[in-house]
Amino acid sequence: MNISAAITAVHGSVPEKVLSNSDLEKMVDTNDEWIVTRTGIKERRIVSEGTTLSDLGTDVVKGICEKRGISPLEIDMIIVGTVTSDHRFPSTSNLICHKSGATNAWGYDVSAACSGFLYTLITGQQFIVSGQCKKVIVIGGDIMSSIVSYEDRNTCVIFGDGAGGVLLEPNDEGNGIVDSIMKADGSGKDYLIQKAGGSAFPVNKENVGTPETFVYQEGRSVFKFAVTNMADVSAEIMEKNNLTGEDVDWLVPHQANLRIIDATANRMGLTKDKVMINISKYGNTTSGTIPLCLWEWENQLKKGDNVVLAAFGGGFTWGSVYLKWAYNS
Ligand code: ACO
Repeated sequence: MNISAAITAVHGSVPEKVLSNSDLEKMVDTNDEWIVTRTGIKERRIVSEGTTLSDLGTDVVKGICEKRGISPLEIDMIIVGTVTSDHRFPSTSNLICHKSGATNAWGYDVSAACSGFLYTLITGQQFIVSGQCKKVIVIGGDIMSSIVSYEDRNTCVIFGDGAGGVLLEPNDEGNGIVDSIMKADGSGKDYLIQKAGGSAFPVNKENVGTPETFVYQEGRSVFKFAVTNMADVSAEIMEKNNLTGEDVDWLVPHQANLRIIDATANRMGLTKDKVMINISKYGNTTSGTIPLCLWEWENQLKKGDNVVLAAFGGGFTWGSVYLKWAYNS
């Protein structure tokens, strides 16, 4: 039997502070009805000042080690999908290795916006199937409140903060990651971008605080790309693996918009009870959405379940992953 990379533990970390739609009504020209009908979001979590992504990621690593009954010293690698790393450098992975006591591990950050967790998961898979690593933690998380303008109603109502992660280990029982389809199209960059802050547009005293230093999204255009591509790539992975809607036990979609999730589930022929949805509580946590769903639904997942993960994000980046769940919790 070939070795595959299987998820063997999941953990999540969300800030305690809740930012509700009614809180946002006091900050920008918006209302609860608009936000709920257009996105499905009722509230999101926001970090308190001083809490960083590496703090949330450290909680995730500690939670995973506790659940799995292992020491952080046994972790070989930590890979972090994010667009809101603590600093430009060192990487957030670097900081999490140190803060969590995973001092035998190495790693790095992966930037793929809302597809960050899928990109990271498939990167981690390679280190397991090659035999180079036995225990890889992949984390998806973002502190979107650090790059969103709370004067821009187009973006501030959508995003939230949070992180989740999974432990990947070798599996010889036929469970774990079976297949993936990963995509990228950089021609989509102008539709969803944080323009300033990189080497092309460094932040300087002239542009500090201008809209270019925050997330910009042309929502309607991104919606069209997202709804088509996320549904297409999910249908494609089912076809490639001869799966019907009946065969799929769970869809774990990126939580950007309830309408995009519904369209993907319909295209896959899935009933609502098979779709993990928690967008109403957390909003769009960018790289955090998929592992936060796995964390919330962990108790309902059963060994051998057919699970499809799907995401679409800035870049553009998108993809789907088909895996067989490897444990009962
Ligand atoms: N409250 C009230 N009205 C608003 C708000 C708000 N918060 N935001 C926009 N509006 C207004 C607009 O100004 C517009 O008014 P107009 O018709 O007078 O011009 C109207 O509402 C409709 O705006 P749209 O942008 O067309 O609204 P839409 O139905 O497209 O919903 C949304 C916007 C929710 C952003 C949607 O387009 C969407 O979900 N897009 C895709 C998001 C996505 O998938 N992103 C990728 C992942 S994120 C990542 O990678 C980091």
